Amino acid sequence: MKKLKIAVLAGDGIGPEVILQAQKALAAVALVFGHEFTFEDALIGAVAIERTGKPLPDQTLNLCKNTDSILFGAIGDPIYDNNPESKIRPEQGLLKLRKELGLYANIRPIKAYPKLMDASPIKKEILQGTDFVIYRELNGGMYFGEKHLNEAGTYASDLCEYNEDEIAKITHLAFKAAQERRKKVTLVDKANVLETSRLWRKVVQIIAKDYPDVTLEFLYVDNAAMQLILNPRQFDVLLTDNLFGDILSDEASVIAGSKGLMSSASVGEKYSLFEPIHGSYSEVKGKNCANPIASILSAAMLLEHFGLSIESKAIIEAVEKAIINQIVTIDLKVDSKIGTNEVGDYIANYILNKGDLYFK
Ligand code: IPM
Ligand code: MN
Repeated sequence: MKKLKIAVLAGDGIGPEVILQAQKALAAVALVFGHEFTFEDALIGAVAIERTGKPLPDQTLNLCKNTDSILFGAIGDPIYDNNPESKIRPEQGLLKLRKELGLYANIRPIKAYPKLMDASPIKKEILQGTDFVIYRELNGGMYFGEKHLNEAGTYASDLCEYNEDEIAKITHLAFKAAQERRKKVTLVDKANVLETSRLWRKVVQIIAKDYPDVTLEFLYVDNAAMQLILNPRQFDVLLTDNLFGDILSDEASVIAGSKGLMSSASVGEKYSLFEPIHGSYSEVKGKNCANPIASILSAAMLLEHFGLSIESKAIIEAVEKAIINQIVTIDLKVDSKIGTNEVGDYIANYILNKGDLYFK
């Protein structure tokens, strides 16, 4: 029996409705496998600004530091997107949380599901068998370098910074992951232009010597953006910096068929956070049509992180059954009348109904 106290930061837009489905799946797992998962809600993002004036209230940060893990929904609101001069933004909440908790590695798996080949604009022959994972550095780079805007509002800069330690930490994780997979790491950078990229290449090459069973390859980010669409099967573990990882993981979601399928884990030495990679998609908030699978698969990643591998696989199997039986939202099936809640119920019920069979 495992006890886990989980902070639930549902956030903005469709965050609350998709996170609720992840909680249902976790509750089903707890019941079937005899674990105790408790949830505690806290504010982050635009809702937090509205109620407390801060995108990451102290209370939320404290809760996150005193729980075993965090389930995160989505962040962002068009009100702020349309007002670039706003000094305070919902996204600052997530960025501060990643930094304060030292969540330096963001892990984003990408898989082409056989049943969903038609949901992707990429040809089947190219998609088939694609299965890789992006290791995105999450605490450094241009996201966190010094920012500047001159008084006249006519000049702006964002500094891109990395030190050896920051690169080394995520590189070790990426190589360890590759050892458990197909034993290949592709470092994606822009080393023909950027000094930070050249430092990445140097550090990664040194570390690679500790993992002689893993092949290391390099790709410039512009070429990588093309290769992801031309030949995605070539990738196993794609290692990259914060900004490139953000961009490439959205691009890679086209392989899976929808951003609504893409889960992620953000991990550090002490803390962990699990979130869908999609945003708040406020336009459809409360309409019961957002795809909850990314959140549900993020919950599966949470279980795996805590060593609950069979439980994690139970969620993944239920998701695959939902996909096979076309219990999916409109992003995956144009004429689908099935909503967020129904997908969540199907997945939770599948886990509950299978019950004892997990132990056979
Ligand atoms: C993501 C998101 C965030 C990022 C935003 C919301 C700050 O796009 O998790 O990929 O850029 O990291
Ligand atoms: Mn992103």
